[in-house]
Amino acid sequence: MTLELRSPVNERADIMVPDEVSSLATPFNGAVCSQDGDEYQVTNNIIDLLGEEPGFTSIAQSTNHWKLTAAIYEDIWRKRSLSLLSGEDFPIEKEHELLIEWTAPKEGGLYLDFGCSTALYGRALKAAQKKADIVALDFSSQMLEEARFKAEADETDLFLLRADGRNLPFFSKTFDGIVMGGTLNELTEELKVLYEAHRVIKEDGVFFMMHLIKADAWYGRLLQESVSLGGIRFWTVDESNKLFNQAGFRVEEQLTKGIVCFTKLRPK
Ligand SMILES: C[S@@+](CC[C@H](N)C(=O)[O-])C[C@H]1O[C@@H](n2cnc3c(N)ncnc32)[C@H](O)[C@@H]1O
Repeated sequence: MTLELRSPVNERADIMVPDEVSSLATPFNGAVCSQDGDEYQVTNNIIDLLGEEPGFTSIAQSTNHWKLTAAIYEDIWRKRSLSLLSGEDFPIEKEHELLIEWTAPKEGGLYLDFGCSTALYGRALKAAQKKADIVALDFSSQMLEEARFKAEADETDLFLLRADGRNLPFFSKTFDGIVMGGTLNELTEELKVLYEAHRVIKEDGVFFMMHLIKADAWYGRLLQESVSLGGIRFWTVDESNKLFNQAGFRVEEQLTKGIVCFTKLRPK
């Protein structure tokens, strides 16, 4: 399919991205532009709407832009992290099962892996529903390069998009579903990002969220307070539900395991 983006400089202008950009077996290099003429580079299939590196407000955010973090993130940390954080055996396959069950990607649907890092969720959605289209969005070039590498190895086609979640380059009601794994805890301006998610999801769309909540035990809280200094934030389940509500979502299902919380959200 051709992906329609909203120009970052003129919200009435669109940018049509040809299907071949998502075909990762064939490197695509060139540019895409809006009818107003604003032009954006596509390098090795990664569509870059940002150009310059954004200013970072936290250590957590800047480390995501290091090549080393991107290279080791998924295999060394991500695939083991939920077992460590939930305090029980929680293999990545179990997380994928829940992701697919709650998101139920449909034929012809369009899904956004929001703050994708290596696009673990986006790749899982595509594996479950080959006839859906996936946009994997992050503002870190290093993460997107790693996502490209892993998706090509999996023979998974995706649109890889470098953009800022605080100003999504999509028109209203574009997506059948949005998935966000762990990104909420790292956001600055989380409410702005959630409002943007609400704007671009369809009325009957589904939003799968995995985030980390405040620990109950004092030592867990102490640890969380120290990582908060690096820009990672935690809420209680009630606090994060209030946040979802404020942004226009209602909780349809929720499951917590240790400090890991999975939520299926719907626009209200
Ligand atoms: C915890 S990681 C995401 C992990 C991934 N979703 C997963 O399930 O493995 C958070 C990611 O969000 C990205 N990110 C944070 N703030 C962002 C923003 N405003 N716009 C786009 N990406 C953002 C970071 O670059 C980082 O790659």
